[in-house]
Amino acid sequence: MIDLRSDTVTRPTSGMRAAMAAAEVGDDVFGDDPTVNRLQAVAAERFGFESGLFFPTGTQSNLAALMAHCGRGDEFLVGQEAHTYKYEQGGAAVLGSIQPQPLEHEEHGGISIERIGAAIKSDDYHFARTRLLTLENTIGGRVLPMDYLREVTQFAHARGLATHLDGARIFNVVTKLKIDEPTAVAGFDSVSVCLSKGLGAPAGSILMGPRPLIADARRWRKALGGGMRQAGVLAAAGLYALDNNVQRLAEDHANAQYLAAGLQDAGLKVSTPQTNVVYVEVAAAQVSELRAHLKARGILATIAPRTRLMTHMDLPRAKVDVALEAFREYARWAH
Ligand SMILES: Cc1ncc(COP(=O)(O)O)c(C=O)c1O
Repeated sequence: MIDLRSDTVTRPTSGMRAAMAAAEVGDDVFGDDPTVNRLQAVAAERFGFESGLFFPTGTQSNLAALMAHCGRGDEFLVGQEAHTYKYEQGGAAVLGSIQPQPLEHEEHGGISIERIGAAIKSDDYHFARTRLLTLENTIGGRVLPMDYLREVTQFAHARGLATHLDGARIFNVVTKLKIDEPTAVAGFDSVSVCLSKGLGAPAGSILMGPRPLIADARRWRKALGGGMRQAGVLAAAGLYALDNNVQRLAEDHANAQYLAAGLQDAGLKVSTPQTNVVYVEVAAAQVSELRAHLKARGILATIAPRTRLMTHMDLPRAKVDVALEAFREYARWAH
């Protein structure tokens, strides 16, 4: 299959599987898993944080972070399109008793400082207490501008808010901007990073932050059902991914550029990709026909009026070419 639905569809490579098989393990609820402990330490050091905590998923890592930052009746500011607001079933509200205050995005994917300032509630017992600003980078494949990040995190702190970054795809930022990890997450009090997206691990995210916050998150992780036992087999995949699969993200970005250029040449309306995400417009009336056309050629894609296509390590250039040819055929009968 040629799978363009997401960068989460990758299968562990033989090298990663060998690392998993060889992992030393222990009961991580007791803190006894040496491989989990190593991954947490390696990640925290790499990003410049005091402490790290391994989670099965990014959803749980973000939720535990929100619950560690905010108490019952507190509020977090978040983008309308952010994963932590729109794509996690409202977990912060449902499970954390935390009120989201969703805000419109700017073109670059962030939220304007004016909008954030206006949304911070005053100290009045009619209001929830605004405690936290949460941003996402990359968001919809876009890389937030570094100047914006510096200003917005300074502003949030000056107004007494903590800052959390959903950095599920932060390594795409690191790769795109050719910066180091601490620079990419500067200004954030906590960051959640996914190993199971472009990095190709089968599962796992790491939350990083100051020691007391991570200690709280560890409590919430247990309450949320994320206390895993011999999780070193998964952590080994994460360590392998950090060592071997970061550099190669540049290939995914180049493939996204190549895909976008080919789609555009075929006469389709496409976004200019910044990282590994390409958006292509599909007429509503042609959505089901295009889906079937691609499926018949062994191509999986989530076809919608704004179709998101993602490149990843299981999508070498030859497969991109096959997908492009199928889209070219579509473009010929669509026009
Ligand atoms: C930006 C972002 N944050 C968080 C998540 C959640 O990760 P998980 O699927 O591991 O729960 C995803 C998943 O796709 C994501 O794209």
